[in-house]
Amino acid sequence: MSKSDNLALVIVGASGDLTARKLIPALYNLHIKNLLPSGFIVFGVGRSEYSDDSFRHRVVFENENLKDKEGDVQSFADRIFYESIEDYEKDSFGTVKDKLMSLNEAHELHENFIFYLSTPPSLYMTVPEHLAAHGLNDESNGWKRLVIEKPFGYDLESGRKLNEQLLKNYKEEQLYRIDHYLGKETVQNVLVTRFSNGIFEPIWNRNYINHVEITASESIGVEDRGGYYDNSGALRDMVQNHLLQLVALTAMEPPISADADSIRNEKVKLFKSLRPIKPEQVAEQVIRGQYLEATIKGEKAKSYREEKGVDRESRTETYLALKFFIDNWRWAGVPFYIRTGKRLPTRVTEIVLYFKPTPHHLFSKLNEVSSEANQLVIRIQPNEGILLKFGMKVPGAGFNVKYVNMDFHYADLEGEEVPDAYERLLLDCINGDPTLYSRGDAVNAAWEFVSPILKAWENDKDLPLYGYPSGTWGPEVADDLIEGKDLTWRYPCKNLTNDGGFCEL
Ligand code: NDP
Ligand code: BG6
Repeated sequence: MSKSDNLALVIVGASGDLTARKLIPALYNLHIKNLLPSGFIVFGVGRSEYSDDSFRHRVVFENENLKDKEGDVQSFADRIFYESIEDYEKDSFGTVKDKLMSLNEAHELHENFIFYLSTPPSLYMTVPEHLAAHGLNDESNGWKRLVIEKPFGYDLESGRKLNEQLLKNYKEEQLYRIDHYLGKETVQNVLVTRFSNGIFEPIWNRNYINHVEITASESIGVEDRGGYYDNSGALRDMVQNHLLQLVALTAMEPPISADADSIRNEKVKLFKSLRPIKPEQVAEQVIRGQYLEATIKGEKAKSYREEKGVDRESRTETYLALKFFIDNWRWAGVPFYIRTGKRLPTRVTEIVLYFKPTPHHLFSKLNEVSSEANQLVIRIQPNEGILLKFGMKVPGAGFNVKYVNMDFHYADLEGEEVPDAYERLLLDCINGDPTLYSRGDAVNAAWEFVSPILKAWENDKDLPLYGYPSGTWGPEVADDLIEGKDLTWRYPCKNLTNDGGFCEL
């Protein structure tokens, strides 16, 4: 791969968790793989007091998230600089600019800068404005890019406002709205599975698919992010972004080419085809839950309301299951089900396509869609891979049918390592490729789908919030969402192919 221009990655809010846990380890991996340009520096900015040296110690030498420090750690650390600012007001960014311009000269960066907003979201509007006030959006000498972390807005109105505000000082091409799910190798593989195989696309529609199910379960609770999460909840935290992106990749039309705009155009079209859920449908199509105290593997797990930073009477959902339809030619009448939750039995993200039964039934077992019958499971994480379930004859007399698995596991690809999502996303931004970042109109369209649900919860306090014991698969009523005799969710295990009997969680 050819290396890109020299540049500085300026991380605003660099003293925080994201920088140490995700950004620096991803950059270190890119460094040891020799994928960074020779003139590449990281410039951290924050109110916390660090010198270049003490910041390097914190995020590199003492950072336990940096694996394999055998590599060239010192030469990586030498690329990192830091500036303490008094506050996040306009004048402080004058100081930032001065130091940045001297680094620019020393490292011959040609004024190519990426600004990564790693502050709390309350600063996502003002920091870009202050940068622009100092000319740090101006591309007359060198390009300028702005990476915006999630959450991108709190609802439709604030998401739109943030977009409008950013577009006052930046062109859309300069904006990189991050959704780390898009950086996952297995998520990108959804497009490759669909559009590089002649066998799937012809049956990928309402004629052959009965329903589609997407699960993103986590076994952890809110950990130390209670303060943030209590103002967010599963719908904003996971569905508006990550899960709807998975829906888009699964359901969108083939793009005319693999460039950023063609793919993003199809996603927007798909988001616009999501049938809005009306307030009176929320009770029936949306199930929300909150985890309760329980004993898991002999250890007491706290209830959500006991978590640090969470209101003791909180009604924030930590689980969400949703049924909806896509009003377009391909998917008319096919129900889509998505669910996500914290403190569920295991961490799994997967997409399951359930196929319709054969039109004429020769063998008893094949006449209905069932939780065993033809399914294609695309496993995003863990035990990444693809599984196809199909019926085969049990050897011996008669025509008894048994369902068996055909599976592919990424782990079997010799010598191929699956890179971390942030590694891929940072490299794409460095190379100026926005394909795996969200475009403004897509973010707005996703909010348009989600907002009526948020409004319904706000306006109708009687809409239920179900409790579920930690370590279970969420409220039992979520099983009733799935249409069809004896149909329920696939209850996945840690291992892609285990289900039904033994299940390692
Ligand atoms: P932190 O809460 O750790 O904040 C980052 C830095 O912002 C702090 O170290 C602090 O630096 C500065 N800051 C400025 N104003 C405030 C304030 N009022 N309260 C607290 N800190 C402030 O955030 P993270 O590093 O965890 O995340 C950064 C952004 O990325 C957030 O918007 C988050 O939503 C998003 N994100 C984070 C993920 C994660 O795993 N952490 C995952 C996905 C998204 P200083 O005091 O030095 O100025
Ligand atoms: C983040 C959410 O965006 O995604 C977290 O804020 C969630 O609440 C995380 O835990 C899940 O990401 P992953 O990559 O672990 O599936």
